[in-house]
Amino acid sequence: MRTKIVAGNWKMNKNREETEALLAELSAKLPDTKAEVIVAPTFVNLETAQRSLESSTIKVAAQNMHFAENGAYTGEISADMLLNLDVDTVILGHSERRSYFGETDELLAKKMDTAVAKGLKAIFCFGEELEDRKSDNHFSVVESQLKNGLFHLEASAWKNIVLAYEPVWAIGTGETASPEQAQEMHAFIRKTIAEAYNASIADEVSILYGGSVKPGNAEEIFSKPDVDGGLIGGASLVASDFVAIINAI
Ligand code: G3H
Repeated sequence: MRTKIVAGNWKMNKNREETEALLAELSAKLPDTKAEVIVAPTFVNLETAQRSLESSTIKVAAQNMHFAENGAYTGEISADMLLNLDVDTVILGHSERRSYFGETDELLAKKMDTAVAKGLKAIFCFGEELEDRKSDNHFSVVESQLKNGLFHLEASAWKNIVLAYEPVWAIGTGETASPEQAQEMHAFIRKTIAEAYNASIADEVSILYGGSVKPGNAEEIFSKPDVDGGLIGGASLVASDFVAIINAI
């Protein structure tokens, strides 16, 4: 039985007071759910979020981290710094990190090595651009992102990996992959992992869909057999919308 997960990636939104207010509202409205609920505020508000959620089941994740242990990397945050705040989950490889900050598959492979070595849970994001889909290259792009970023890892690493398929053309655009497109890609991802590792790893890894998930489309997307939840951007910034999406799982 795979873990169902609804994760909110807040990106560069919400100051400290807004973080406290959103988490208070979210905690008050949180439905009774078997799904794991995660929020990823900015680095500077991780501690505030942890404190606000002390008596909640909602978990806190970081949006990024550096691969190095420590050192002269101005502006960066290490795995140990996250663990020191009791943050044990990190989003890696988000398309905005790949496109605006030049994060390559090779760099992400190193970040994954560090996450695994430190025992962090990684939500590894990947997905094709619009041109890839238009030219029918979306499967090969996704396959190479998985291969280059993850397939060097030992089988044992996979217990701490969650995948988030996020077609770039659906992120923040209001255009979402159809439930059929999401299912088709998630099934392909599982098949690719089964071929690289084995069927039980492929069957056990949670694969989230991300890209314009809203209260109005979440239930249909989550109803697909290989979709185990969502990585939510814009709609995670409004408590009632995020709660509606949690209810949809
Ligand atoms: O990390 C979340 C994704 O980028 C989706 O963002 O729900 O605003 O499209 P979105």
